Amino acid sequence: MSIVIKTPEQIEKMRVAGRLAAEVLELIGPHVQKGVTTEELNQICHDHITKVQQAIPAPLNYHGFPKSTCISINEVVCHGIPGHKKLKEGDIVNIDITVIKDGYHGDTSKMFIVGQATPRNKKLVEVTQQSLYAAIKQIKPGACLSDIGATIQPIAEKEGFSVVRDFCGHGIGEGFHEEPQIVHYRNKARLKLKSGMIFTIEPMINAGDYRCKVSKKDGWTATTKDGQPSAQFEHTLLVTDNGCEVLTWREEEAELLPQVISHS
Ligand code: MF3
Ligand code: CO
Ligand code: CO
Repeated sequence: MSIVIKTPEQIEKMRVAGRLAAEVLELIGPHVQKGVTTEELNQICHDHITKVQQAIPAPLNYHGFPKSTCISINEVVCHGIPGHKKLKEGDIVNIDITVIKDGYHGDTSKMFIVGQATPRNKKLVEVTQQSLYAAIKQIKPGACLSDIGATIQPIAEKEGFSVVRDFCGHGIGEGFHEEPQIVHYRNKARLKLKSGMIFTIEPMINAGDYRCKVSKKDGWTATTKDGQPSAQFEHTLLVTDNGCEVLTWREEEAELLPQVISHS
């Protein structure tokens, strides 16, 4: 497999899938409250995706993943499996949604804060979001894949945080995870971006050490090795002729991130 340059017809289907994934994050927001279980949040998302959107939740049964969404609390870096755990005051929670509509994937995640978080956790969430937005603003034809990590890593490290190395962004389309891999730390990926590429950027930033471990019990849940918290935001992006289009953009982001970015 190689990098797919999407046709106008494929791009239109990716716009639809991206919008649906974004809509699930909008819809779940009011339910992210103290006392709710992650299984209940998963069920609301699953029902909306399957019944209202007539779409498919991509994580369900993906390489054996057992649920329709990933929900990752505090020291869980990614791939948290929804279950009986209740959200509590001060938790920072990532919900990662991937839908398949008409054969194409839309993939996006954001952080939610339950009640009041500590100043450090708030900072971690803000900086992670800013690092994603700064990287998105670099995307245009001719930019290098390595510009992404070169943008994200200094933003994280300036605050004393670290960039996760074990998980990365990815091309996306008919496949959930297509080429290329998009790493979020400094690297030498010389590949030049081209109009029509579609990929995710999804930095995971740890408050402490960058290292992670995956649960031996469930084979999925990735946590920080040092037990400190981690945050993540993710968007699916289309490279346009002069910038990029955020296919999973939400209205609430309008002040910080335009849906369409033009550099000419
Ligand atoms: N949505 C994740 C990503 O951003 C992948 C989840 S795979 C799963 O790439 F199997 F855990 F759902
Ligand atoms: Co992704
Ligand atoms: Co995702």
